[in-house]
Parts: sequence; C-alpha cells; structure tokens
Amino acid sequence: MSELPTHPPAQPLIAVSELNKWHGTAHVLRNVSLTVNAHERVVVCGPSGSGKSTLLRCLNGLDSPQSGRIVIDGTELRDTTAARGIVRREVGMVFQSFNLFPHMTVLDNCTLAPIWVRKMPKAAAEESALTQLTRVHLSAHAHKYPSELSGGEQQRVAIARALCLAPKVMLFDEPTSALDPEMIKEVLDIIMGLAEAGMTMICVTHEMGFARRAADRIVFMDRGEIVEQGAPDQMFDSPKTERLQLFLSRTLNAAATAPREFFAAGSVQPLHASRNTR
Ligand SMILES: Nc1ncnc2c1ncn2[C@@H]1O[C@H](COP(=O)(O)OP(=O)(O)OP(=O)(O)O)[C@@H](O)[C@H]1O
Ligand SMILES: [Mg+2]
Repeated sequence: MSELPTHPPAQPLIAVSELNKWHGTAHVLRNVSLTVNAHERVVVCGPSGSGKSTLLRCLNGLDSPQSGRIVIDGTELRDTTAARGIVRREVGMVFQSFNLFPHMTVLDNCTLAPIWVRKMPKAAAEESALTQLTRVHLSAHAHKYPSELSGGEQQRVAIARALCLAPKVMLFDEPTSALDPEMIKEVLDIIMGLAEAGMTMICVTHEMGFARRAADRIVFMDRGEIVEQGAPDQMFDSPKTERLQLFLSRTLNAAATAPREFFAAGSVQPLHASRNTR
C-alpha cells in the first residue's frame, strides 16, 4: 500500500496554555488552555464574571496573567514592552464601549495608530482608512465626529479602526451589548462579513443566535475555567456538562421572556443571553 504524504499539523495562530490570573485573592482565570487556528471563528460565552473579558485582555497584552503562556503567530507574549508591541499589532480589539476619541474625526481615529504605531505616511494611512470605512459602509462619514454618529455607526468605526492595523486576529468583547436592538444587526452583519472573508476571530457575545450561525467553535467559560467547547450544534443541542445546560436554559428563558421589540434587528435570532445568568 502506498504511503500518503504526511504534513506537519498547521501551527495554531493562537496558543494559550495553562493561563492563570488572579485579581487579589480572586482566581479569575484557572488553567485556561485554548488554541485557535487561522481563519477559525471562536465564540466565547458564559455567565457574567466568568473571565471572558480577562481572557481577551490577556490575549491583547492589556492584562498580564501570573502564569501560563500565550503564543500568537509564533511570538510569545512576554511581559516586555517589545513583545507587547509586536502582539498588539497582530491583534485587533473591539470593545463593548467603542472607545473612539471624541475630539477626533472618524478618519483621524482610524489613522492615528497606523501613523504613530506603524509609521505609515499620512496619505497612505488615509487611503487605507477609507478602504476600511468603505468596508463598514461608512466612507461618507469620514469627516464627522463620533458624537454625530449612532452607536451602531460608532461601533463600525471602531471595527474599521482595528482593521486599519491589518491584524491577523480580531478580538470582539461584547461588541453589540451597548447597542440599541435595531443597531445590533448592522454590527453583527459586519462581523459576519469579516468571518466570511476568512478573518480569524474570537468574539465574546451574548447573542446566541449569532454564535450559532457564525462560530466554528463555541467555548463556554464559567468561574474562570473553560468548562466545555465544541461545534455550535453539539454545544446547543447536546451540552455535556450541567453548567452549560444550566447556562443555556437560563439563556433561552431570558430570550423567551424578553419583549418582542428586542428582536427587531431582523436576522438576529431571538436567543439573547441575559447579562446575569449565574
Ligand atoms: N481590574 C480588576 N480588579 C479586580 N477584579 C477584577 C478586575 N477585572 C475583573 N475582575 C474580576 O474578575 C472576574 C472576571 O471578570 P471579567 O470581566 O473577565 O468577566 P466577564 O466574563 O467578562 O463578565 P461580563 O460578562 O460581565 O463582562 C470578575 O469576578 C471580576 O469582578
Ligand atoms: Mg466582560
């Protein structure tokens, strides 16, 4: 029998191993290990306080774990300014509260980091920013200030701003939870478009309908641990652990009792986790 050629397994884009993080005496990440391959879309869900934001902040170098390793595209994220700089350029992050500079136009918000961090010439940075603003359907708003935009538009600017640094992976921390229901869809559609274009992403969200449609893999966290992970259908239809079963039943109950107008966002399915599902 002829031997099939063997290929070494592709190196994951993100490799997290045995991460531990304490805030004072609170053990907020407990031996968290996670790998994410290029082009994979991972949704992280779990009750409030389970460590989801802390995990993303560690991946972006905004928080430092006390132990464990994070390797992003072959570079270990160590506690040094240089290593953080390298990793931050590879990792785009979008927060719940858009964090745009209010005194700067949309265009200036988008060109600030490329000019100062990437040392891009201004004209090239503006051209690239307009490309990304077009991608989020906001090129006509380039010269407005954030206060002149809706929440959904501001969040789309935040996404465009992150894309201007050409990151290898995008992290989203509840990108729609500060938005009015009618604006949720426009932001999720943009994230879906990025996913379909092959962007590697980790998205913390309470939008379970989106999670089911968009994710290759769902990671469920509780009390600082990754309790269970798997394909969306498996996680939703046959959760293995009692903790995930409980989380999903509370999530579905919350969705069932939410007001009808809550789901006015069209294709966003009525499966929205409550913020406090513990
Ligand atoms: N800077 C901090 N100082 C002290 N404790 C913190 C700090 N940041 C987070 N924590 C605690 O760490 C735990 C995990 O917080 P984290 O924000 O990661 O949770 P989360 O899963 O993102 O929750 P949520 O769904 O509410 O956003 C919580 O108990 C929180 O109170
Ligand atoms: Mg959080």
